[in-house]
Amino acid sequence: MLAAHVTAADPHHPLTALRIGERPEPDAADGWAVVRVEAATLNRHDLWSLAGVGLPAERMPMILGTDAAGTVDGRPVIVHAVIASPGWSGDATLDPKRTLLSELHQGTMAEFVAVPRANLIDRPGWLSAEQAACLPTAWLTAYRMLTRDSGLSAGDTVLIQGASGGVASAATTLGSALGFRVWVTGRTEAKRTAALGRGADAAFEPGARLPERVDAVIETVGEATWAHSLRSLRPGGTIVCAGATSGPNPPAELNRVFFQQLRVIGSTMGTVAEFHGLLELMERTGVRPGIDRVLDLPDAAEGFRAMAEGTLDGKIVIKP
Ligand SMILES: NC(=O)c1ccc[n+]([C@@H]2O[C@H](COP(=O)([O-])OP(=O)(O)OC[C@H]3O[C@@H](n4cnc5c(N)ncnc54)[C@H](OP(=O)(O)O)[C@@H]3O)[C@@H](O)[C@H]2O)c1
Repeated sequence: MLAAHVTAADPHHPLTALRIGERPEPDAADGWAVVRVEAATLNRHDLWSLAGVGLPAERMPMILGTDAAGTVDGRPVIVHAVIASPGWSGDATLDPKRTLLSELHQGTMAEFVAVPRANLIDRPGWLSAEQAACLPTAWLTAYRMLTRDSGLSAGDTVLIQGASGGVASAATTLGSALGFRVWVTGRTEAKRTAALGRGADAAFEPGARLPERVDAVIETVGEATWAHSLRSLRPGGTIVCAGATSGPNPPAELNRVFFQQLRVIGSTMGTVAEFHGLLELMERTGVRPGIDRVLDLPDAAEGFRAMAEGTLDGKIVIKP
């Protein structure tokens, strides 16, 4: 089958490590199912994989992709991407041995992917395969950050660092649907304007002084925005951090953290129960993922390039 994969990572030139070619079709182990993939989406995680982050050489070749929507024996499904180790029960994200698809088990950017049956979620009729494939990583992460971790209530103000990215755009749409006042930062005028179109109440240049301090910050950028995130919070406010795209080691500014009694909360993906909560919110409010473009699998390199260059707005869908 055709698949986007990596055989040898390149930390300095990750795009050159992308291979699109034939890989063996998966078999379903006991308790697993083979999904016929209709749509996958691209996440920053896939660029990290091309750079060898979290993907040691002995696990390659590895098919990329954490997200998929498709069918199992004609049943429309969405794939929950967090794979718990055998015997684990409870929140899979807390399993020390949990992996995402494409870390230990082959990923979703292919015609077929094998996943545990427990990771299959029924895809509602009101969601297309392309929309559904946006949810398992970026949208579920944004949902957990906003609902479980942020401490926000309707009417509170949230700052989202970044405007166009997968998690940032999801958090903007979902934050607005949850009744929060949503402020974003975006690196270009076009990105800030697009964020306003998907529900942001105001959009600022990165690092801008805000009209007032916010109740929570959604952080996936890291070094480039961390100081601004700390500065922008009201006393007792919360930073929810799920990523560090620009670098993982910002100055901690611990004096600001304790003096302002800030809460710094780490967040990763979500559970199947939270996935159902996300679907319920989407059905009730009518919000849907913003899709930047849909690419056929042989053209996937175009999407990876756009993500690396930061020239996208929302999710990039890959169709096998
Ligand atoms: N913990 C988890 O479970 C989890 C889940 C999903 C993602 N993540 C992590 O979250 C991060 C975002 O993932 P994604 O898929 O949303 O990525 P993405 O689509 O590539 O988005 C990147 C975002 O970062 C913003 N950004 C601001 N300054 C930047 C800089 N100097 N360099 C690069 N980007 C900058 C961009 O803002 P503009 O709009 O202004 O360009 C954009 O919104 C990644 O680090 C990813 O690994 C973690």
